[in-house]
Amino acid sequence: MADLSCDFVGIKSPNPFWLASAPPTDKEYNVRRAFEAGWGGVVWKTLGEDGPPVVNVNGPRYGAIWGADRRLLGLNNIELITDRPLEVNLREIKTVKRDYPDRAMVVSLMVPCEEEAWKAILARVEETGADGVELNFGCPHGMSERGMGSAVGQVPDYVEMVTRWCKANTRMPVIVKLTPNITDIRLASRAAHKGGADAVSLINTINSITGVDLDQMAPEPTIDGKGTHGGYCGPAVKPIALNMVAEIARDPETAGLPISGIGGVTTWKDAAEFMALGAGNVQVCTAVMTYGFKIVQEMISGLSQWMDDKGHAQVSDLVGRAVPNVTDWQYLNLNYVTKARIDQAACIKCGRCFAACEDTSHQAITMSPERVFEVQDDECVACNLCVNVCPVEDCITMERLAAGQTDPRTGQTVSDDYANWTTHPNNPGTCAAE
Ligand SMILES: Cc1cc2nc3c(=O)[nH]c(=O)nc-3n(C[C@H](O)[C@H](O)[C@H](O)COP(=O)(O)O)c2cc1C
Ligand code: SF4
Ligand code: SF4
Repeated sequence: MADLSCDFVGIKSPNPFWLASAPPTDKEYNVRRAFEAGWGGVVWKTLGEDGPPVVNVNGPRYGAIWGADRRLLGLNNIELITDRPLEVNLREIKTVKRDYPDRAMVVSLMVPCEEEAWKAILARVEETGADGVELNFGCPHGMSERGMGSAVGQVPDYVEMVTRWCKANTRMPVIVKLTPNITDIRLASRAAHKGGADAVSLINTINSITGVDLDQMAPEPTIDGKGTHGGYCGPAVKPIALNMVAEIARDPETAGLPISGIGGVTTWKDAAEFMALGAGNVQVCTAVMTYGFKIVQEMISGLSQWMDDKGHAQVSDLVGRAVPNVTDWQYLNLNYVTKARIDQAACIKCGRCFAACEDTSHQAITMSPERVFEVQDDECVACNLCVNVCPVEDCITMERLAAGQTDPRTGQTVSDDYANWTTHPNNPGTCAAE
């Protein structure tokens, strides 16, 4: 049986599934039930400085997009950091950590960009016995207008400066949570690394407007006829998050910097993908807001079973496994030739592949009067569009041509040599070098 226990920057948890800082972790009542359900750790909902708490809107704070089956694909929120008094949160954190010593208790923080403010809150958090802190440099709405959250995360110098302050003022591990609302995520992770961060976590939410109410002519969620951008999360953001995690994992300047992967994790497989791309653990928010705390049980059993099947004894065996296979376009093998293949027995004759290939791709699928759809290898460029639009899973697959076969489209013999763009005769750079 695979061992799912994790040690992330010295913080131990029985499994790699943590709850991200958000409504599921905003109070003792929630976190206790989360731990009872099996979550390995939590990042407590972001705390602000002492004093009157922030005030949330009283209208709707969420927008969303859905798939055709009304399954939630993306969630958008305009919620701020915790709106409960600091001392209440700290008291609850201390009690819960005392009662669940084997679970990771990380506290998310966001205070003004002044060393004294960070020093003051770090001391208060240390007293709770929490295992670590996460610096919220990512919240893209409300708090950023006040010079915090993503307003810090978007300026690498600030990221480095605040991280350095925190490292100088606490013995707890410091995890820096990054905003995806930035052009090159590596600049922010390098800054965190330079500032002495023990790890980075990503992604926080993405600037977004999920829709416009066409009666009120205002963005959703609409508050008394007005709307504002919110932070986007859920399954829709997973591809963006995976890419950013991979960018950091393969950046030589931050080699070895631990990463906590966040963004759309809903199943054990999502988690395994983040870990394969270099995340030492994962954090989850939207999936729990959609399905409840108990989804962790399927995540645990699914990951454990898959690891057993693959012979991974522990989580660290999996972390970063796919990183060496993430490359730049120019290094992809141009001698790898495939063609689409349609399983006629599985085909329901809907014609989507034909429409897609005929109108937007390469006119490589024919339709007979009896609605039999066939791929013409001499036209198929192997773009994979038909696979993606076909409503029947595995009905269309891509099949590799063996070395020695002739590609009827190019007339060339398929070679099993690896050859990429850097050495291709059409590459102007190659010509210049000769
Ligand atoms: C309603 C809501 C409130 C959130 N509040 C916080 C917060 O206080 N601090 C923080 O660092 N991230 C906050 N987040 C972002 C999540 O922690 C997480 O980074 C993001 O939702 C992506 O993960 P997901 O796709 O699993 O939801 C919030 C997200 C949502 C939906
Ligand atoms: S892979 Fe692309 S080119 Fe080939 S049949 Fe499918 S859609 Fe057409
Ligand atoms: S999209 Fe798939 S199911 Fe529909 S006609 Fe093409 S192969 Fe058949």
